[in-house]
Amino acid sequence: MIHYEDFERERLDPIYDIIAPYSEMSKNERYFLNGMIRYFKPKKILEVGVSSGGGTALILNAISDIDGAELYSVDYSEKAYRHPEKSSGFLVEEQFPHLMDKWHIYRGGDVSRFIETVGGDIDMLVLDTVHIHPWETLNFLCVLPLMKLSGSWTILHDISLSGLACRYLFGHVVSEEKFSPAPDNPELPPNIGAFRISEDTMKYINNLFESLMIPFFSSEVPQKDFDSISAIIKKYYSPEQYKFFLEAFKFQASLKDRGYKERKKSFYESLKTFIILWQPSLYDSMRKIKRSIKK
Ligand SMILES: C[S@@+](CC[C@H](N)C(=O)[O-])C[C@H]1O[C@@H](n2cnc3c(N)ncnc32)[C@H](O)[C@@H]1O
Repeated sequence: MIHYEDFERERLDPIYDIIAPYSEMSKNERYFLNGMIRYFKPKKILEVGVSSGGGTALILNAISDIDGAELYSVDYSEKAYRHPEKSSGFLVEEQFPHLMDKWHIYRGGDVSRFIETVGGDIDMLVLDTVHIHPWETLNFLCVLPLMKLSGSWTILHDISLSGLACRYLFGHVVSEEKFSPAPDNPELPPNIGAFRISEDTMKYINNLFESLMIPFFSSEVPQKDFDSISAIIKKYYSPEQYKFFLEAFKFQASLKDRGYKERKKSFYESLKTFIILWQPSLYDSMRKIKRSIKK
């Protein structure tokens, strides 16, 4: 098995110290991403989740000598959340303007809004967004129909981060090949994973629709995102899958509603216990009033 984190490290070395402070990956993860690109030489890469642009600059550096290779980057936010005075991906503009001719950047929306502009035949997806379920699963469902269904790759960051959203996706997606580099800290599980897309990934995609029944940790999927995501699901998946998707969202709304009712109920239960213990005469009077109202 190839250790991609060791493959053509010398490509990344000269810019490593410039990008490191702005990249949200660890050392081995950065070399792993560099090695995967250098080994597979993808022509069309989609990066979802840009932030300051440390990963973007790494990718652009890795493809700069690959004929016809292009990077498409999408970030939900116009501004880099760690440097709110600057645009997402600012590092490329500031430090690597000579690499911008292979770069297309889309800011200010979920990937579902831009994916059809990016277009098909994607060879590699680098996915690193919210880490809160259901986001990565939704992101992937929206991108998959526009990926090459034979031999393209997804590189997924933060598969061991506490939110578990990326682990649900990494665990549930069907792929003949999934792997991770050696983690920087051998006591911790690897936090980046790659999986190869094949026709089976699409054939067994219902596994990921099923994941949408796992309670959402994210408080809400905003209406505008729901609209653009559901438009993509409706267009690229079967009517049954689209129906399942809508029902999963209905189910999640009912869970949220039930959670609210449970919380409301437990508040009144606690209040009742408090009154019984500390003001039993008040509790008796309240019960009498309630009984008289019922009569
Ligand atoms: C962890 S940071 C990305 C770090 C970057 N990949 C790196 O290696 O330095 C996550 C980014 O994803 C963006 N994001 C969150 N949800 C998104 C979505 N649904 N579509 C596109 N970008 C999203 C956030 O605005 C944030 O900038």
